[in-house]
Amino acid sequence: MNNVTTTEAGTVTATLGLVGAGKMGTAMLDGWLSKQVLAAPPLVIEPLPSGHIQSLADQGKINLNAAAEADQLDVLIIAVKPQIMSDVLKELRIVGPRTLLISIAAGKTIEGFEKILGSETPVIRAMPNTPAAIGLGITAAVVNAHVSDTQRALCTTLLSAVGDVVWVEREGLIDAVTAVSGSGPAYVFYMIECLASAAREAGLPAELADQLAVATVHGAGVLAAQSDEPPNVLRQNVTSPGGTTAAGLDILMGSDGLAPLMRRVIKAATQRSKELRD
Ligand SMILES: NC(=O)c1ccc[n+]([C@@H]2O[C@H](COP(=O)([O-])OP(=O)(O)OC[C@H]3O[C@@H](n4cnc5c(N)ncnc54)[C@H](OP(=O)(O)O)[C@@H]3O)[C@@H](O)[C@H]2O)c1
Repeated sequence: MNNVTTTEAGTVTATLGLVGAGKMGTAMLDGWLSKQVLAAPPLVIEPLPSGHIQSLADQGKINLNAAAEADQLDVLIIAVKPQIMSDVLKELRIVGPRTLLISIAAGKTIEGFEKILGSETPVIRAMPNTPAAIGLGITAAVVNAHVSDTQRALCTTLLSAVGDVVWVEREGLIDAVTAVSGSGPAYVFYMIECLASAAREAGLPAELADQLAVATVHGAGVLAAQSDEPPNVLRQNVTSPGGTTAAGLDILMGSDGLAPLMRRVIKAATQRSKELRD
């Protein structure tokens, strides 16, 4: 795969295909296009394209459902639901021994892909999360033994278009990653719901309660991400002894508070991810 390269400007010159332009596939595609990551329009395979995807095709920004005319690709990103993954992969003619497969499907193991495509196939298993839709995702990824350093760098370029990218050394860690960052946005959404609901019970109008809850989580998240200080120091900085924050944290940090609850949450989600492995 000598032609799988990124130029110095970070442009991917490899031939690229995306299968499944749903929520996550579209988020990645939009990231590549807005950041001008790709040297040429990618092939996109999607049986029921959204208006947005059709419009990208009409503008010549993607080659939609043109697999019949395509040669074997350098890179294929597969973003279909796990349940149909095997059937979709078996039908694809654009995947050959030199194609790097990047899967973002939950529960689909590298071994499973090797069984379908051949044990020598370079495979990357990645786990993104929904803030990718606004370019603020985080993706953790793992390679099999056949992925070259160049292919790994190329994957970093592609996934970086929708947020941060981290590499893990063992595939077994992906279950915990799925539990933390894959499922994590839903936990935070629920925390916003609970904060807003408690705010309403404390007498605030519903709209104000929602606004305060969302802005607080957003502001604290951005501050934590941008600050040089770790979260525990940021917390201590806003907690005066005997003050209101201390009174709230006494509950949140109690023996039946958030820490044991979050341990149970991550344990349950990690276990479920293991059960869903193929
Ligand atoms: N969303 C997340 O937060 C998230 C996070 C991490 C990982 N993932 C993984 O990302 C993958 C996609 O999830 P998603 O949320 O983006 O799902 P989604 O919105 O349902 O997208 C899947 C897309 O694949 C299309 N598709 C179905 N059959 C196809 C075929 N034969 N060939 C090509 N495309 C086909 C679907 O089209 P139709 O609508 O016509 O069926 C749909 O547009 C899943 O494997 C999921 O595990 C998602």
